Amino acid sequence: MLVNLTIVAENEAPSTRPPLLPVPAQVEYSDGQFRLNAEFTLAVEGKPHERMFRGATRFLRRLSGRTGLFFLQHYITETGKSRFANLVINCRRPGVVKLGTDESYRLTVTPEKIELQADNDIGALRGLETLLQLLQADEKGYFLPAVKIVDAPRFPWRGLLIDVSRHFMPMEVLKRNLDGMAAVKLNVLHWHLVDDQGFRVESKTFPKLHEMGSDGFYFTQEQIREIIAYANDRGIRVMPEFDVPAHATSWLVGYPELGSAPGPYTVERNWGIMDPVLDPTRDAIYDFLDQFFAEMAGLFPDEYLHIGGDENNGKHWNANQDIQAFMKKNNIPDNHALQSYFNQRILKIVTKHGKKMIGWDEIFHPDLPKTAVIHSWRGKEAMVKAAQQGYMSILSNGYYIDLMQPAYFHYLNDPIPEDTPLSEKEQRAILGGEATSWGELVSPETIDSRIWPRTAAIAERLWSPQRVKDVEDMYRRLEVISFQLEEHGLTHRKNFEMMLRRLTGDRDITPLRTFIELVEPVKIYTRHHQGVKYTSSSPLTRVVDAARPESMAARDFARRVDSLLANPSENNQAAVADLLKIWKRNHAALQAIINTSPVLREIESLSQDLTTISEIGMAAGNYYSSRVKPSEAWHERSLELLEAARKPRGQVMLMVVDPIEKLVKAVKTE
Ligand code: ACM
Repeated sequence: MLVNLTIVAENEAPSTRPPLLPVPAQVEYSDGQFRLNAEFTLAVEGKPHERMFRGATRFLRRLSGRTGLFFLQHYITETGKSRFANLVINCRRPGVVKLGTDESYRLTVTPEKIELQADNDIGALRGLETLLQLLQADEKGYFLPAVKIVDAPRFPWRGLLIDVSRHFMPMEVLKRNLDGMAAVKLNVLHWHLVDDQGFRVESKTFPKLHEMGSDGFYFTQEQIREIIAYANDRGIRVMPEFDVPAHATSWLVGYPELGSAPGPYTVERNWGIMDPVLDPTRDAIYDFLDQFFAEMAGLFPDEYLHIGGDENNGKHWNANQDIQAFMKKNNIPDNHALQSYFNQRILKIVTKHGKKMIGWDEIFHPDLPKTAVIHSWRGKEAMVKAAQQGYMSILSNGYYIDLMQPAYFHYLNDPIPEDTPLSEKEQRAILGGEATSWGELVSPETIDSRIWPRTAAIAERLWSPQRVKDVEDMYRRLEVISFQLEEHGLTHRKNFEMMLRRLTGDRDITPLRTFIELVEPVKIYTRHHQGVKYTSSSPLTRVVDAARPESMAARDFARRVDSLLANPSENNQAAVADLLKIWKRNHAALQAIINTSPVLREIESLSQDLTTISEIGMAAGNYYSSRVKPSEAWHERSLELLEAARKPRGQVMLMVVDPIEKLVKAVKTE
């Protein structure tokens, strides 16, 4: 299903190329430019699905929005009129939004004309996103560089999981993120609709599921259809997940008889691995799930249905005498085997309703039929083992964006790296991957800043050829794409300052911004283990929530220090010293704000540490460039203070300790 492309070396220095992200399979620039003006028109040819016309109109609006040009063309509603058009889009057939659909396209820009050719409209939509990324400007106006692009994805499954159970997300959050996904050529919304903390989909068959399991925050079936249509218009599949048998509290609030313990159950307010689990030994459970999945299979048109299957701690199974007796009678040796028994019955139900079953890697078991797809999250091993044993799989291990790891970490996590143990045939069983936005610590206000821009780096990993892995070049392009994503109403940048205004009581946010730009939230799951007890209604408005998952300012500073150490020129000295001077003064200004904003008290000593280590950095910079040798005692004391500054406060970490320490360690002592 993947187009085999010959790789042509790109013929310009990376830093001068337009920031295409994901990098297309094949790009060849040539001389000349297509200049844009208000007379620009586009035409659609061939036999596209009608989504092409809406997509072309959105393209025109975005181009108009970016350039301020008053295009004469209003809506694109039919094929034809290509004789006068500057941009001609040609699709051979209507696209179908499903796994493995042809998303390839060819884009040719010459000074006279732009041609976009694709098998179908979905490929054409991908090409229009590339075209928008090509837009450049100079003193004469806006233009597109002459270029020939031949492009197709490396993997057919490129997803983003959005968890709306832990925190409910309104419709507009989903819509703007679908637009963001389309912009970076992602094609699956994995909608995590059900978990302990909320049953977020309306069920007409079993209304107590959403009525009693959601605190009133759920998507009606009409809203579900609206999101599916919105995604479909952008060539994006919507795959629902109904997590069973564990993560099941919200099922049991209205239907406690499905559980393995007597209940009653209430909607979970806390985070973690919970005990409630469906009882896999009773036929009534399967009747219930048969009816429920029949209803959901009718609601969600995608071929795949995700059944979760993760993190069953088995406690309620162990404690239930009837379940234990059932296991003994049926020679089921352990809970994993019992869950496998459950999965096989679920697989039959899901298959009966015309769906393919996918589940988290816990569903992996020798008895699992090969038609199930394994979603690898605990490690890459499950994906490799699945492929070797003839299962198809997708990867999310290494793409957990809720863990606050840097973009490059996700970017370099290749499902099929050069040293893969998989044969070529086995490699074809790796369908792709998904970024996972788990919802414990996000609100509608912060979720975009946890998804973007890092998810764009994952999108590139899953779309672009394996050879595309220059981290510095990725960061250069990511900054530009991040800003372009705001066009869709995404709030990852604009909410930052609003959150700082709240934290400061609408006073001058400058010193707080300087500080927060240098910190990052604590990583992995540590945020839950630092003495703060989070529930589903805890405020997500503190410094740690405003802080970006990755500090670009700290990254920039580390680069400056490296340049200084490589070459202590006056410019390189100033590049480091200028920042340290600002940071050194910052605490005094921030202290005045902290004094009347008690919410900021938790970072007071960390802010003080920024001043302390900036002074150390300034001294080290002076010693380094003047070659004056400080005492051993200064050196030791400095390293102690730097170590102390590493301690997180307010659940954030100061990210400039490492480069300052590097500078101190480079200074020779007496
Ligand atoms: C998972 O993160 N429990 C799939």
